[in-house]
Amino acid sequence: MKRRDFLQTTSTGIAASIGYGLLKPAAGAFAQSAAAPMRLGVIGPGSRGQELIRQFMRVPGVDITAVCDIYEPRFAQTEQLLGHTVAHHHDYRELIDRKDIDAIVIATPPKFHGKYVSAALRSGRPVYGEKVMGFSVQDSRDIVAAARESKQHYQVGHEYRYAPWFIEAIRRVHAGEIGKVTHVYGYWHRNNDWRRPVPNPKDERLINWRLYKESSMGLLAELGSHMVDTANWVFGSMPESVFASGSIVEFHDGRETDDNVQAIYSYSEGRRFIFSALANNAILGNQLWIYGDKGSVQLTIEDAIFFYEKDSSAHLAAKSPVVEKGMTTGASYSTKNEMPYRGEGEKVKVDNYEDATLTACRSFITDVRANKRPFADELVGYGAAVAITLGYQAKEEERLIRFGDNAKV
Ligand SMILES: NC(=O)c1ccc[n+]([C@@H]2O[C@H](COP(=O)([O-])OP(=O)(O)OC[C@H]3O[C@@H](n4cnc5c(N)ncnc54)[C@H](O)[C@@H]3O)[C@@H](O)[C@H]2O)c1
Repeated sequence: MKRRDFLQTTSTGIAASIGYGLLKPAAGAFAQSAAAPMRLGVIGPGSRGQELIRQFMRVPGVDITAVCDIYEPRFAQTEQLLGHTVAHHHDYRELIDRKDIDAIVIATPPKFHGKYVSAALRSGRPVYGEKVMGFSVQDSRDIVAAARESKQHYQVGHEYRYAPWFIEAIRRVHAGEIGKVTHVYGYWHRNNDWRRPVPNPKDERLINWRLYKESSMGLLAELGSHMVDTANWVFGSMPESVFASGSIVEFHDGRETDDNVQAIYSYSEGRRFIFSALANNAILGNQLWIYGDKGSVQLTIEDAIFFYEKDSSAHLAAKSPVVEKGMTTGASYSTKNEMPYRGEGEKVKVDNYEDATLTACRSFITDVRANKRPFADELVGYGAAVAITLGYQAKEEERLIRFGDNAKV
């Protein structure tokens, strides 16, 4: 499928967004020599924004030139991180208006992404924008339109797209190593209340924006967006429908967003992505499984491990007697093939296991310099963001939502 087809007519074809080659040079595109520092402006240098600054500072030839935030303590925190003073602004338009900035990083809460990312792209600068790309389908459409019309480079903060062990594992899955892939299961289970300390109670909704519906789609968006992006990557398309549920089961502390969420996304041919987030039990941690009829892959933030299906022929002999634990029983009662696999599996070997965010930041700089389309481009961001927006709507309205026209750009 061609990129144009995806953009104009359909909700499928995420895989086809990979590797379109060079962006058409645009007026205002980064035009300095590779030796000149790339000057970044950062909007929203909070927790994630500061992490991005930390990683961008590890990339040679990058200068953090200005930051913008509405919460005053962020400026001192950023300066401490940088080890020097930095120009700062309270309004995103002032930062975007600066003439001494080559690229813009946006890490505000999601409800500002649509407006700020679109304005930054339309100012003629490449953008690294945090996930989830948009807070509504329209936000995400606006960003795709701004990227297309400005011909600027947009990279979304789905950093696992850059993790070598994800890339290699999914390459092997696409090559057929675990057979026909029908399911992806994503677990992101933690044991903490997700609440941040608030020095001044008037800042509760600014600091704990994740807990309020006016500013957050909750766990589904904050954690599930990475995982639905991986499912889109594995299946090569966006989902076709979703239903989801959630509740507040543990943290009755005035929050509005759920502390546990479950979602089932259907893709073509009956394939499914199932997502679960818990906030009060961490035994499963953060892990994503790709299941095929010949094997499985476990993907984590540190590695990827392949497991292969055992011979299941014993299932065929359901009527023959089986002796187990000193008793004669039927094969259908045998536990032999039902115990979880506890072997070590085969770890994917790649040269680089560095932090995926560092790899993503470095790729942003090198791709902008080379005028090369990013792997995690606006279509990747769109696919995940729309899946999350519609999943959240399905959960809120307690009904199944079909993507169809809802997902068209
Ligand atoms: N890619 C990842 O792995 C990852 C990890 C964590 C967070 N994130 C994403 O990063 C974004 C920020 O998350 P966070 O945890 O850093 O939140 P945060 O609250 O710590 O930081 C957000 C910052 O934006 C500032 N801000 C709020 N409104 C603003 C406005 N109108 N103009 C300018 N600044 C404004 C806040 O004061 C704060 O400093 C979210 O979209 C989140 O989903 C991504």
